[in-house]
Amino acid sequence: MTAKHRIIQVGSYAGSPTANDRLARDYDVVELWKYPDRKAALAEHGKGVDVLVTSASMGCTAEIIDALPDLKAICSWGVGYETIDVKAAQRRGIQVSNTPDVLTDCVADLAWGLILAAARRIAYGDRFVRTGGWGQVHGSIPLGSRVSGKKLGIVGLGRIGQAIAKRGSGFDMEVRYHGRRRRDDVPYTYEASLRDLAAWADFLVVATVGGPSTFHLISKEVIEALGPKGTIVNIARGPVIDENALVEALQTGKLGNAALDVFEHEPKVPDALKANDNVVLLPHIGSATLETRLEMENLMLANLEAFLKTGKVLTPVVE
Ligand code: DGY
Repeated sequence: MTAKHRIIQVGSYAGSPTANDRLARDYDVVELWKYPDRKAALAEHGKGVDVLVTSASMGCTAEIIDALPDLKAICSWGVGYETIDVKAAQRRGIQVSNTPDVLTDCVADLAWGLILAAARRIAYGDRFVRTGGWGQVHGSIPLGSRVSGKKLGIVGLGRIGQAIAKRGSGFDMEVRYHGRRRRDDVPYTYEASLRDLAAWADFLVVATVGGPSTFHLISKEVIEALGPKGTIVNIARGPVIDENALVEALQTGKLGNAALDVFEHEPKVPDALKANDNVVLLPHIGSATLETRLEMENLMLANLEAFLKTGKVLTPVVE
């Protein structure tokens, strides 16, 4: 029997149905998260290791990359890679792959779940019924707002942003977007100014990449432009929104509603958001369906296998 190929796994894939088991079955896995001293573990087990598997929540720092002199590929589970030091990897010629496309529909569906939950007070109403508040047939909870026919602003019209926009047509919404550049291949109006997009929109959905290029892109000014009747939805990354400014705007009524799947310091969620009935909160579950999570692990494993067979990952991140 040939020895299994050794790989490094940065963290446990708790949110993926079978990724841990499949990796353990087919590879000699160094389970980095189980070692109290990561540096010592990498020094002891990292020699000769050419592949590392990770995810955006586990990350892969320059320190880890530096500790692995033979590393040639980083295969990540998930589409986001802002916690992987891609530049440090590229300097060494290390390939980095992620799992795009397979999660697009589920993340877009969840964005729509959040839009509807916020506007139609679905989460609020659910809490109201469960806690025994429902005493009269009509007039029980504050009125929500109509979704159909309203104005949908999308920040970041990549794959997920476009899937959200497409669903907007089903609700007869006018869609506009803001991003790094105008696209010629979409039927939506481009707004060069994010502030102007926010001032126009009823619903502003954040679907950008994370990382330094979008840190606090949704600033106090943008939030206030969206205004007391506006709703912000975030299915991208928490730090894209200035969370302190968001809390303040919600508390002072300068912003109407927020529906959030991601947070600036997740899994920490500010108490002020938890206490606010105009806020819908989810625990970062954009891609969390059985089908999609399986496809994510399939693609991560396919990247890993392809690298070992051909020396090339299938879906490299494009920087
Ligand atoms: C991603 O793909 O980056 C998601 O956040 C993981 O669910």
